[in-house]
Amino acid sequence: MTLVSGRQLLNTDGETHARLRGVLGPHLATRALMDKRPMVTAAVKVLLDRLADEEHIDLVTDFAEPLNTVVIARLLGVAEDACAAAMACCRLLLGPRHPEEPEMRSAYLEMSEALAEFVSVREHEDAGDDDLLSVIVGALRARRIRRREAVSMVGSVLLGASSPPVTLIAVACALALCDQDFRFTVASGSVECAVEEALRYQPPVSFSSWRFAREPLEIAGTRIDRGDAVMVLLAAANRDPRVFAGGDRIVPDRSGPAGHLSFGQGPHYCMGAAVARLQAQVAVPAFLDRFPTARLVRPLEETVWEGVLGDRRPVSVEVALR
Ligand code: HEM
Repeated sequence: MTLVSGRQLLNTDGETHARLRGVLGPHLATRALMDKRPMVTAAVKVLLDRLADEEHIDLVTDFAEPLNTVVIARLLGVAEDACAAAMACCRLLLGPRHPEEPEMRSAYLEMSEALAEFVSVREHEDAGDDDLLSVIVGALRARRIRRREAVSMVGSVLLGASSPPVTLIAVACALALCDQDFRFTVASGSVECAVEEALRYQPPVSFSSWRFAREPLEIAGTRIDRGDAVMVLLAAANRDPRVFAGGDRIVPDRSGPAGHLSFGQGPHYCMGAAVARLQAQVAVPAFLDRFPTARLVRPLEETVWEGVLGDRRPVSVEVALR
């Protein structure tokens, strides 16, 4: 991905990756985010208040996307409109368009400028704010990372956060509206299980990024030579019958550890998993409480999806609120 070219989380391994990951990783862990729950709850409430008089909404553009923008802007410590503009560029750049198209080039330039400006503006302010940008600038000042790595790190957060949480929130709300077991699981206080099942059943990121074989190997009868590229189809792994009985069905109260691969696995395990989970775990029950008679306008199976190898998200999920 040219946008975050140079050293960044997804294209480094070993010591360099550990050094980069060590900057934000601890600040995005579940425990570190516990005190962010009130902020997320307040953001959900503001959005639901705004929707109170509507008859019909699109879960994607009217609820999931604005919620995700507010939450990521607050966590990162940037203005909401700047965050929304940068994430719009991310979605374009992650989409199916050819990288040489003029719109892609201008999105790339706009994004690069925005990232550099986020870092340089914060550098000239007092440090010590409780946000991710301060942590990144703190690491830059302490020479733990270089300027280019700092800029790429902001880019990695925005790229990673630009679309997948939107899909998760919209899909989990939609499942709660059309699947009685799912709704019951949420209502009975097990929203965590329901969200994991939404992640398994409709993974917002269906493929891992590239991996390159360090030595020849064989996977399920296919020979992989040294240097060959491999991508893991996470969505297929999530329905592996050896792991998930009835994997094509939604079973929101599956017992035991989550087991799905929607956030990847190993050293590159999604750094924003706890942020995405937190948003969905707060948003879904609050949406159901506020709009108890809401229903999907069309069956979820008729949803049109957009996206390519990585991100996939519903174009819209229309809901009648009453
Ligand atoms: C439902 C929401 C999300 C899903 C399904 C998701 C999925 C993934 C997956 C599958 C990977 C691993 C890719 C690989 O191994 O090739 C990953 C990595 C990553 N994600 Fe997420 N992601 C989500 C939300 C977020 C958010 C909210 C952020 C930022 C706050 C984020 C930031 C990152 C970063 C920085 C990496 C690279 C980690 C590394 O290489 O060490 N993601 N994500």
